[in-house]
Amino acid sequence: MNPYVFAMKPIGVVRSPYTNTTQIPEGLGTTHEAEGVLEILPALEPGLTDIEGFSHLYVLWVFDRAAGYELLGTPPIDTRAHGVFATRSPRRPNPIGLTVVRLLRREGSRLLVRGVDMLDGTPILDIKPYLSSVPPQELRRGWLAEAERATQGRGAR
Ligand SMILES: C[S@@+](CC[C@H](N)C(=O)[O-])C[C@H]1O[C@@H](n2cnc3c(N)ncnc32)[C@H](O)[C@@H]1O
Repeated sequence: MNPYVFAMKPIGVVRSPYTNTTQIPEGLGTTHEAEGVLEILPALEPGLTDIEGFSHLYVLWVFDRAAGYELLGTPPIDTRAHGVFATRSPRRPNPIGLTVVRLLRREGSRLLVRGVDMLDGTPILDIKPYLSSVPPQELRRGWLAEAERATQGRGAR
């Protein structure tokens, strides 16, 4: 494999109510309802043209406060270790986060969104419209489905 190194510049930052990772809800069944703002660099505002027509967006961002990576780790929602690429762990070889948010409205170069799970000040790498084409019946949820079944069996969420 070629030893490429890619240099990327943030297109903006996330403004979120979370200043500490302990404030961010996690665990099975968690839904992220917190509102935040994607503050895009004013020079890039033309790139947001027509974005209002989309209800949901993918946000690609950097886990800028994660330390190193772990190829096998036990997520907080399971008792068994899984490969990092089978999880959404912040501690990954390339610390890239991916979050789907609901677009509430746009104010110039600011996108007001719901569903942030990032810390305040998180650098944004890219934004794309969310278009899911996978029929729900074809989705498999791997080890997560087993963890969910085990939790339901214990009568908790
Ligand atoms: C489990 S990850 C999932 C993030 C994203 N939805 C994904 O799938 O890539 C979410 C956690 O990342 C951590 N986190 C959020 N913003 C971060 C940042 N800027 N640097 C490091 N860790 C962060 C918090 O602990 C948060 O609960």
